[in-house]
Amino acid sequence: MCGIIGYIGDKKASDVLISGLSHLEYRGYDSSGVALFGEKDIEIYKAQGKLINLIHVLNSKKEICTSSHMGIGHIRWATHGMPTEINAHPHTCNCENLTLVHNGIIENYQELKQELQMLGCKFKSQTDTEVAAHLIAQEYGKTQDLLKAMQNAVKKIQGAFAFCAMHKHEPNKIVIAKRNAPLIVGVGIGENFIASDVPAIIEYTKKAIYLSDYQTGVVTKNDIKIYDKEDKLTANKIEFLPYEALAISKMGYKHFMLKEIYEQSDVARNILAQKLVSQNENIKLDELKLDGNNIKKITRVQIIACGTSLHAGMVGKYIIEKFAKIPTDVEASSEYIYRDTIVDENTLVIGISQSGETADTITAIKQAKEQGAHVAIITNRVDSTMARLADSLLPVNAGIEVSVAATKSYMAQLISLYLLAIRLRELKFDFKDIEIIKLKQELFELPTKIEELLGHSEKIQKVAKKYSSYKNFIFIARGINFPSALEGALKLKEISYINATGYSAGELKHGPIAMLDENMPVLAILNTGVVYDKVLSNCEEARARQAKLIAVTNYIAPKDENLFDDVIMVPFGSDLISPALNIVVLQLLAYFIAEYLGKDVDQPRNLAKSVTVE
Ligand code: AGP
Repeated sequence: MCGIIGYIGDKKASDVLISGLSHLEYRGYDSSGVALFGEKDIEIYKAQGKLINLIHVLNSKKEICTSSHMGIGHIRWATHGMPTEINAHPHTCNCENLTLVHNGIIENYQELKQELQMLGCKFKSQTDTEVAAHLIAQEYGKTQDLLKAMQNAVKKIQGAFAFCAMHKHEPNKIVIAKRNAPLIVGVGIGENFIASDVPAIIEYTKKAIYLSDYQTGVVTKNDIKIYDKEDKLTANKIEFLPYEALAISKMGYKHFMLKEIYEQSDVARNILAQKLVSQNENIKLDELKLDGNNIKKITRVQIIACGTSLHAGMVGKYIIEKFAKIPTDVEASSEYIYRDTIVDENTLVIGISQSGETADTITAIKQAKEQGAHVAIITNRVDSTMARLADSLLPVNAGIEVSVAATKSYMAQLISLYLLAIRLRELKFDFKDIEIIKLKQELFELPTKIEELLGHSEKIQKVAKKYSSYKNFIFIARGINFPSALEGALKLKEISYINATGYSAGELKHGPIAMLDENMPVLAILNTGVVYDKVLSNCEEARARQAKLIAVTNYIAPKDENLFDDVIMVPFGSDLISPALNIVVLQLLAYFIAEYLGKDVDQPRNLAKSVTVE
């Protein structure tokens, strides 16, 4: 959730650290800090709030900023302790010789803290990280070697961490360690970088070493040494980073979210171009490492994910059951891991995650793998922890998504699920039927329909303005669009802080209808198909309680138009494809409302892009 950056080389360290943190700011952002190794000493600067506050602090420290060519930095999303300057990283020990930044959570920090206090350690912050700083410093007292001190200390720590540490008596080196939190070393010429995520270093290097769990390392200007769990020197391969610096620029859009919404037609086009050749040819999904025989043995599918990815999974359930005829459950990873799930070698578990680093989903996947399931991962990050755990890695290739609110990654996940469902059917039944041919045709047409929608956003903008002062919202839909209602409500909630809830339209009269009056707008997703008339009846029920009604629909009969206060038209598509169209309207609506309200669209309060703690 937080972000780490480290640099050692000839550049001004403060410039590299600030640039790196600015690219990580989307991950977590209630405070930030850097430690700069100067001629003799380490100087620490921190600031509460946005990164700009830290930049102002550094602007008044010209001397150290010019002379330092080595440092570590951190951007924090508070877990232990309020988001204050004192709790911001880097943290130090009593003598302040050691400086440390940390991502993750130290689970046994209270026990360790008590022991350290008995040894005389004085704590300044409420963080779990400060415990690690004191612990490593204690070990340094015994070994006088920062790497050994780190290696000894991490053996006493339970929980998740990516650490980056410097010691005043060991200039010219940064020592690192990783367990259950991502950490990479960017490889340069006469300089090296450390980061918790690729965007922090991509403008400087395209080559990196990914640390595995339990590894530690020493990074100097011209060398990188990695050690395994037994503290033996090991060799990690250098990998090529697949991202362009351009992908993390706004390209003229006011917000990353808007840019990412507008990228969705291209995202769809790119994925489909690689996987869907023609209506009569099979889907090209070699990444699925199961053949027809394996698939015939699959008795159940379990989809595990969180948030927006969970909603994509709910759409996936509909299409997998429809096409592959395999019973499919969908569950939030955080729930999945705390019950006795029934999994065996005939279970296909599909983990969905934009970041590939969501802690709950990682734990759930590990659990399913241990029980013998085949694990397929649908992720936007082929370099992530989840990707490395996959038996079948189904990349979604949406490009880096910067805005906290997931948009284009959701579109890419939906398309991957359509392709997977069709491929499962092709492999299982070995014939081509009219339904598959129709869906393939609709997939071909999807990018153009998304473009059509994006080209006519004025109506959505008007509706957004009209409803931006309401404090509550209800989204209703049925069938395959029920997840669209949940996702539309989630988008609105997370970026505008309006209390929006998604309901299955049929459930409205079982309780939520009690909340309806003229102050409660109801947005109904109406798609021609089996549930159209049912949702229309639910809209009548809402109207009878004076609720304001908005329709997001691909068809409305003239006789029904007056039922609604506002109608937003969506290009025509079958029920099956409609979630991929309706969601674009809901994303834009949430965006424009948050924009009218002057909210921090890309970095909403209390949220982080990648939730790496359980
Ligand atoms: C989406 O807008 C949210 N920010 C959030 O719900 C997100 O989808 C969730 O945290 C899961 O993340 P993941 O896809 O990276 O696993």
